[in-house]
Order: sequence, then C-alpha cells, then structure tokens
Amino acid sequence: MVYSPEELDASLALKAIARNTPLKSALLQTPAVYAALWPAARRFITGETRKAGIETAKTLTSLGYGIFLAYAGENTGTEQACQAAMEELLALSQAVETASLPKETTISFDLSHIGLSVSQRLARDHFFRLVQETKERGICLMVDMEESDKLEAILEVYQQGAAHYPHVGITLAAHLYRTEQDLEALMHLPGKIRLVKGAYQEPEERAMKRGEALDERFLSLIERAVSAQHPLSIATHDQHLLQELERRKWLAAPQVEVEMLYGVRPDLLKQMKQAGYQTRLYLPYGTEWYLYLCHRLAEYPPNIYQALADCVQPSRTQQPTSNYF
Ligand code: FDA
Repeated sequence: MVYSPEELDASLALKAIARNTPLKSALLQTPAVYAALWPAARRFITGETRKAGIETAKTLTSLGYGIFLAYAGENTGTEQACQAAMEELLALSQAVETASLPKETTISFDLSHIGLSVSQRLARDHFFRLVQETKERGICLMVDMEESDKLEAILEVYQQGAAHYPHVGITLAAHLYRTEQDLEALMHLPGKIRLVKGAYQEPEERAMKRGEALDERFLSLIERAVSAQHPLSIATHDQHLLQELERRKWLAAPQVEVEMLYGVRPDLLKQMKQAGYQTRLYLPYGTEWYLYLCHRLAEYPPNIYQALADCVQPSRTQQPTSNYF
C-alpha cells in the first residue's frame, strides 16, 4: 500500500511518541485521557484484565486458532513494579492451566517489562523463574523483541536462560541488518523463532525501511529457518508476502505457523486457517497499551482516522473477536 507523505510523517511521529515514557505515564495517571483513548485501544486489546484475555483465548481456541497471551507493558522503571509485572505473568500461567487452554498456548512478554530497564540481573532472575514455572505447567514462552538498543541484553538473557528449553522462543526483527547473524546463532538453541518485520523506529545505519528490499530479506530469513526445519512463527499481515510463502509451499511445513495480532486482518488469518495452515493469534490485555496502540496506528496510517473517530464516538468501537468466527 502506498501512503501519502503526510501519512508517512504521522506514522513516524507516532513511532517517536511511542517511546515517550513521560507521555505514557501521564496517560496512565490521567483517568480522563485514558478513558478518551481507550475506545481506540479496544480494537487491538482484548480487555484490561487477565480474565478478558483468558475468555478471548478460550473462544478463539475453540475455533481452532493457537494463542499467544500478552500482558501489555514495557520499560518498567522500578524493581517493585517489575516484581508486580512478574506476579501477573505467574498468575497468567496459572490461569492458562486452570482454563485448560491447549499446552501450546504461549505467554509472550517484553524483558523490559520484568526487569531489563532496571538491571540485567533482575531481568535474568525473573526470566529464569518464568522459564521454570512455565516448564512445570507445560506452557510455552515467547520473548518479544524491543528497540535495537536493548537487543544485545535481550539476546544475552535469552541465551543464558533458554539454552536447554524448547518451550521458550524469541522474536527477531527482519528490518535490522544484523538479524541474519542473530538467526544463525539462535537456531543452535531449541526454542521457536518468531520472525517479524520490526515495529520500532530505528536509525538508518541499523535497519532498513518498509519496501521491496525488506520483503526480500524477510523471505530469505524465512527460507533459512524453513530449510533448517527450525520451529518458526511467521508473524505478518502482509497478504502479498503470505501468498508468496504459500506459492513456495513453506507454510505447509509442519514446524511453521502464521501469526497475527488481535484485531489486524482477521479475514486473512481466517482464510489461512481454512486453507489448513497452523495459525496463531497474539492477544494482549492490560492497561499499559500506550506503546502498543501507537505502533498499531503507525504501521497502518488509515488506523489513525479510525482511532480519532472511535475516541469521539466510543459507541462505534467493536471488539474484533466475532470477525474470527
Ligand atoms: P506491513 O507493515 O508491511 O503491512 C502490510 C499490510 O498489512 C498493510 O498494508 C496492511 O494491509 C496490513 N497491516 C499491517 N499492520 C496493520 C495494522 N496495524 N492495522 C491494519 N492493517 C495492518 N514487532 C517488534 O518489533 N517486536 C515484536 O516482538 C513484535 N511482535 C509481533 C508479534 C506478532 C504476532 C505480530 C503479527 C507482529 C509483531 N510485531 C513485533 C510487529 C511487526 O514488527 C510489524 O510492525 C507488524 O506486524 C506490521 O508489519 P507487517 O509484517 O504486518 O507488514
């Protein structure tokens, strides 16, 4: 899709304000602002509570979709707040078990939500605990990828904590030039790799922009993982790319699944499921949806107009679950 220069400027501005922590705090602490933006967020967030995430997961699981559950949040600034996020993730893993969701149900999270913004040691300790707890419950984990400034630290924590655990995977962003080497290194570990194009605004010398070159690169990374028969989640809403993957018969490989974000292109994921491919949905819940919403608006500028209309007329917002039936 080709966007106007104004839409592209708005997209860049949104990616920049996504990282604005004072703005995020102001939003969370000002009930009127939070309430005004919530109707726009509801198109992408299952609800504010764990219960909402679990209920949506149950419904979508019964339709045959695999699930990633995510407690929204990142860049947690104090040890106490990281501890609280950890408690929530542990409670989530218990709730997944209690709800009898399928074993391959996965909890997806940012390492900066549970410690990385305070210290690498805290992130590692919390990560080790999550790895152990989920292993005992037979639940999977997926580490989300954050800005490239944090990449070395994320890889270090992941490589130390997940070396022997096939139930723990990691996300790699294709737009970063270094991802080819990272993919090679990570395929020595047993965990699933989720490939995404990359949501964060990055300096030119580190990452390429959206376009044909990035699509080629995404394809070549997928080809490498498919040919190595490594467990792979292809996370994209790009219909042309998916058609090409289908043409090359890579989606039919038993270790490959197609993954999309809740509320984005439900029609396309449904079509993939009906074609017999393994499909999975990323279901976020919680109140810290600020950065997540900014990214969803930035990567598809028509969403900005929709969000504006949702905020002015909240009754028009509909949760997307029924679109997956
Ligand atoms: P692209 O942005 O090229 O868009 C292609 C087409 O898809 C658009 O023309 C439009 O039709 C549709 N589309 C894309 N986004 C849309 C939206 N928000 N609303 C409506 N239509 C949309 N990133 C990251 O940096 N770290 C991470 O850990 C993750 N995790 C993650 C998990 C999962 C399951 C997914 C699907 C994505 C992520 N991402 C991510 C986000 C990812 O990097 C990327 O920003 C988005 O998926 C958008 O890129 P696409 O590949 O969809 O294509």
